[in-house]
Amino acid sequence: MKALILAGGKGTRLRPITFSMAKQLVPVANKPVLFYGLEAIAAAGIRQVGIIVGDTAAEIQRAVGDGSRWGVEVTYIPQPEPLGLAHAVLTAEPYLRDEPFIMYLGDNIVTSSVKPLIEAFEQRKPNALILLAKVPNPQEFGVAELQGERVVRLIEKPKQPPSNLALVGVYLFDPHIFEAARAIKPSWRGELEITDAIQYLIDNGYTVEWQQITGWWKDTGSLDALLEANRLVLEDLRPANAGTLEETQLHGRVAIGAGSILKRCTVRGPAIIGANCYLEDCYIGSFTSIGDGVRLVSCEVEYSIILEGSVVEQVETRIEGSLLGKNVVVRGGAKRPRTMRLMLGDSSLVETP
Ligand code: TTP
Repeated sequence: MKALILAGGKGTRLRPITFSMAKQLVPVANKPVLFYGLEAIAAAGIRQVGIIVGDTAAEIQRAVGDGSRWGVEVTYIPQPEPLGLAHAVLTAEPYLRDEPFIMYLGDNIVTSSVKPLIEAFEQRKPNALILLAKVPNPQEFGVAELQGERVVRLIEKPKQPPSNLALVGVYLFDPHIFEAARAIKPSWRGELEITDAIQYLIDNGYTVEWQQITGWWKDTGSLDALLEANRLVLEDLRPANAGTLEETQLHGRVAIGAGSILKRCTVRGPAIIGANCYLEDCYIGSFTSIGDGVRLVSCEVEYSIILEGSVVEQVETRIEGSLLGKNVVVRGGAKRPRTMRLMLGDSSLVETP
């Protein structure tokens, strides 16, 4: 069986970060989101992986290479425009041809193994196997309506959800999905929706089976979900310190990369600090991921992700629930009256919650 990972798309919900980087490469616990999917697929024994790429193709290719790091053989499949998940499937048809395949959304993290899914699919040979997860906010997802054990309807972001079972970004299909993707029309947002393609399978008498996910699942396409995914991954962090500590206290599970220096800091885990960082007079709170080469002086950061090369200095207000891109500078001052000088890109967000 081949795998198809979707790493194109627009990434509008993560702007401005996605103006300059692929959302699938935003790090969660200092590892790009996409690598979690690649690891899951490699661990399930799949060797041939097609990756759908869009505008950010070069960046994705630089990060993933030929896939040998995961023991897989990667083929890049350019999608000329992000016209929907079912459009991505059609784009990959020449690569996938007449074999069943597992499709994995490149901005999703699923903690449970996908191997039992593949085994169930190969044993029972349905036309599609979908994964469902109970969510508190089904209005924001594709939602399944069940009749007894059967999925009868899939609705994209319903105002009145028929259940709290959301469609997880991992699917198994046989080649009938190509027929379905060809038959459907673009939705109101101009995309060929995978929910519509699966609905076509249901309506035309094909078997669509489902399983409820066991571990947790996150679509990291929005800031809140990304921070939540970071929290969940950090819950399992293994502590390790390869840095230098001076008058610094570590509480709980903390990982610090080589070459990093922490002076007069308090770090409350779980938290990860990359390599070659410099931290002085800081408080780092739980569920924080700090990338390589970050400089933090006289500030407090909690439940946040800070990407490589960024600088935060002399900021009195605690930074919380935040995502800072690469090489961002946030610098405060002690002078009164307090003023703010900002240079923010399009769609930047500065707020006091
Ligand atoms: P989405 O998060 O549903 O779509 P998006 O990337 O356009 O994001 P937003 O809604 O914030 O604008 O996509 C899920 C995954 O599939 C993600 O990794 C991007 C990828 N994708 C493609 O590869 N091709 C596409 O045409 C679309 C829509 C998404």
